[in-house]
Amino acid sequence: MPRIEFVGGAKARDKAVDVPEGGSLVDLCDQVLAPVPFSCRSASCGTCQVQVLEGAELLEPASEEEQDLLDLLDDGEGSRLACQARVKPGPGLVRLRPIGT
Ligand code: FES
Repeated sequence: MPRIEFVGGAKARDKAVDVPEGGSLVDLCDQVLAPVPFSCRSASCGTCQVQVLEGAELLEPASEEEQDLLDLLDDGEGSRLACQARVKPGPGLVRLRPIGT
């Protein structure tokens, strides 16, 4: 079952959650009160940008809308938008570090 770990946010509230079915990352963040800030929730502002430290292959590929904003943000570090990313079902570990905190 995928485990999602949120690490290194400025608020120092590391958190982990098991997500056997995968699903929408924004819903998972809401469920566990993950230390990821959100604003627009529609791939417009970049507030929810997270660096993927591990397990990028366990996330569905970015949509065109998400990729367009990531290209504008241009951090060069393999980041995703937590309001858009979806977690695949299956085993593994995804480690995310909020960038916007
Ligand atoms: S909350 Fe604005 S891009 Fe995700």
